[in-house]
Amino acid sequence: MHAITHIELNAIDLAWDIIARFRNSDLPLAFYDDWVNIANDEAKHFSMLTNYLNQNNACYGDFPAHDSLWESAEKTSDDILSRLAIVPLVLEARGLDTTPGAINKLSATGDTKAARILKIIGEEEISHVATGVRWFHHICKSRELEPASTFQLLVKSQFNGFLKPPFATYARTLAGFPRFYYEPLSKLR
Ligand SMILES: [Fe+2]
Ligand SMILES: [Fe+2]
Repeated sequence: MHAITHIELNAIDLAWDIIARFRNSDLPLAFYDDWVNIANDEAKHFSMLTNYLNQNNACYGDFPAHDSLWESAEKTSDDILSRLAIVPLVLEARGLDTTPGAINKLSATGDTKAARILKIIGEEEISHVATGVRWFHHICKSRELEPASTFQLLVKSQFNGFLKPPFATYARTLAGFPRFYYEPLSKLR
């Protein structure tokens, strides 16, 4: 739960970073409004998790945390299309894949409170991936790029090129993320 709290804190920073960093992109106000709403969701997720930690005699910062989310942010800081491909479409979409398993594990230990928090987070993250997909398509269209192959190229150049299956196809499809974008990348290794 501490590791997830750390991810949510990074998600708050990433939402505001996209707003501030790409302010000179040729994007409508609706783009920035979407990320303000996402920052608000992520802040809510972080608060739910820090409350949970506090109720369990712990707090955020008690354990070491990895820096891979922020490393991806730095790697994609020069192009909005790379940022969208890697942050919402790889990393947040990965959350859709892993959350159901985490909910099951927590339920099995009897920690229904933790399971309930992750269930809320998992449901809300679908809309974040959907926002990423929508703006990824918008920018591909304005640059006259074919979105599926562009996504695959960006994952190969800006990430390690490999996406770990199994995928939560149902949740990804609800987010408007087509299988043929990401499934070919699960076979590269
Ligand atoms: Fe979140
Ligand atoms: Fe999110």
